[in-house]
Amino acid sequence: MSHLLLIVAIPVLATAYAAFVQHPRQTSLLYPVHSKRIRPQEKIITDCMTVWSEEGHLYYKSTTNDPVVCGIYIIAKPEQTVHVYFDYVDVPCNSGGLIAFVDGWELNGQLFPNENDHPKATEDRFYEICGSKRPKQVLKSSQNAALIQYRVPRRGNGFSFYVSFINNPTPCNILIQGMNEVYTLRNYGKQVNCSLTTLYPAEVKILSLGVGLGHGQKRNYELETGTIHKCENRGLPDFVQVGGGDGLGQLSVVDSICGTHSAPENMVETIMCGVTTVRMVSSGQFHNAVTVAVKPPEIEATPTLVCQH
Ligand SMILES: *[C@@H]1O[C@H](CO)[C@@H](O)[C@H](O)[C@H]1NC(C)=O
Repeated sequence: MSHLLLIVAIPVLATAYAAFVQHPRQTSLLYPVHSKRIRPQEKIITDCMTVWSEEGHLYYKSTTNDPVVCGIYIIAKPEQTVHVYFDYVDVPCNSGGLIAFVDGWELNGQLFPNENDHPKATEDRFYEICGSKRPKQVLKSSQNAALIQYRVPRRGNGFSFYVSFINNPTPCNILIQGMNEVYTLRNYGKQVNCSLTTLYPAEVKILSLGVGLGHGQKRNYELETGTIHKCENRGLPDFVQVGGGDGLGQLSVVDSICGTHSAPENMVETIMCGVTTVRMVSSGQFHNAVTVAVKPPEIEATPTLVCQH
């Protein structure tokens, strides 16, 4: 089977995403007050690009013979993962039809989370479906973002699936939904890379830092080392990178820090790119945590990084 590739500019996805963040769905009609049981939301997909952030039952039926590739970008809360269960598939393989469940978001061949930050090998992050036999198992994401890509080039064919959100006690890679958020990235003592990503230009402020340098080894006695820059150049294996890019998988790093600093002042970076990322690399020798605040930049802010759009 050929791999599906959805080609869209980040600003297109970011616009869909921003519209969705700013105009949350009206719930009053869908959840009548007298109804005790909250019914899952039913949704018929009509747009080629959909951003979806709820549990629910989603349907798609092709109205054209167009072999266009489309995507349903699912985002849950940071401390959740996405489960998808197909209850109906009618997408004949011989017509060129294909559905792919992606563990993460893909745009222009670039992946969130990045290949270096995801627990699975890239080929294991794509589950492809065609024909009329639906997968028996629930398809699960490793983070709060998942994607259904589809190409249904015959009128009348389609599919439907349930989306549910499951609590994740150890979130690592997080796609940020809100416009003014505070998050703590942790490695839970493991050798993992974790990341926070937004799809808008952002001001990133480090609120507290405890990464590398013996942090977490002695619980009652932690030395404040202050913020240390360019840690990897000093041979320190654990560090936090701040940067951005114009694609999901690109990261131009403007700063790289480590150390123990409970109140780092003036640690603000303004990333004027389609995508902003804070990434924590952990060797597994330390219990690392970094708390960051992310919001759209002030108009008068001096950018630390500007990307070419
Ligand atoms: C973390 O990322 C670095 C590159 O920054 C890579 O060399 C390393 O293999 C990654 N670690 C894990 C556990 O994937």
